[in-house]
Amino acid sequence: MPNIKAQRSTFNRNPNTSARDRLVLALDIDSDREALDIVDEVKESVGWFKVGHQLFTAYGPDIVRRIIDRGGRVFLDLKYHDIPTTVAKASAEAVKLGASMFNVHALGGLDMMKAAAESSQETADKLGVPVPVTLAVTVLTSMDEKNLRKELKIMRSLQREVSHLARLAQRAGMHGVVASPLEIKMLRRAVRGEFVILTPGVRPAWAGKDDQKRTMTPTEAVAAGADYIVIGRPVLKAADRSEAVRKIIGEIETSVSDADTRRKKDTRRD
Ligand code: C5P
Repeated sequence: MPNIKAQRSTFNRNPNTSARDRLVLALDIDSDREALDIVDEVKESVGWFKVGHQLFTAYGPDIVRRIIDRGGRVFLDLKYHDIPTTVAKASAEAVKLGASMFNVHALGGLDMMKAAAESSQETADKLGVPVPVTLAVTVLTSMDEKNLRKELKIMRSLQREVSHLARLAQRAGMHGVVASPLEIKMLRRAVRGEFVILTPGVRPAWAGKDDQKRTMTPTEAVAAGADYIVIGRPVLKAADRSEAVRKIIGEIETSVSDADTRRKKDTRRD
């Protein structure tokens, strides 16, 4: 098992969390060698590396171990969705593998999410490692209200469905949700206190949108209440990846320091 004790830390919505620890780089590529080169290139400035279906299907759990061995923290983005027992067992394996964050589909239901959260906690306790951040995907951002109604026969609005699933995830003991940038503000109102929001669909002003449609800049996403932002292609495709990461970190820092100034002003007013 890789050495996961030393480098894991659970995010607790601390406003002082560094920009590095808020940035998740999506390793959506087809070569393990290239993925590991990228990890080596940017790991000083990037807190998390997202391993999704593509890399995992091609290279298996070993790619996760190799990233961890290089000092990277891994968000295992496999979106488990199965009967509770199966998801509990998969969650235990994710913890044993050393994932510091993993996710499930909220549409798997309350019992399934509970099974994931409990199994993750129990396995982490047994191993004596910090419990990974467990996230729920609410409604995929590739779906719109028409898909919900016509295909899934979910008649409530998209926003209400997303809020409902986020609250269900919180009840189940999940740490947070994956959400589109445009859902962050609404979700902050829908859920209580320490609930993590991780947001893909983030695009710096200087980067192309690729196939992302409803985006925010890193500054806007963090200002809206995102704890983590996931960025892939703007870094992966950049001529100078380290420079791209530096610029994104700068944008997150701007947002965090603006929020800090606002908080201090509010405290003085109280
Ligand atoms: O390259 P890009 O920055 O668009 O990558 C975003 C990453 O976040 C991809 O891995 C994508 O699968 C993931 N994601 C997303 N939208 C969601 C959920 C996940 O873009 N709603």
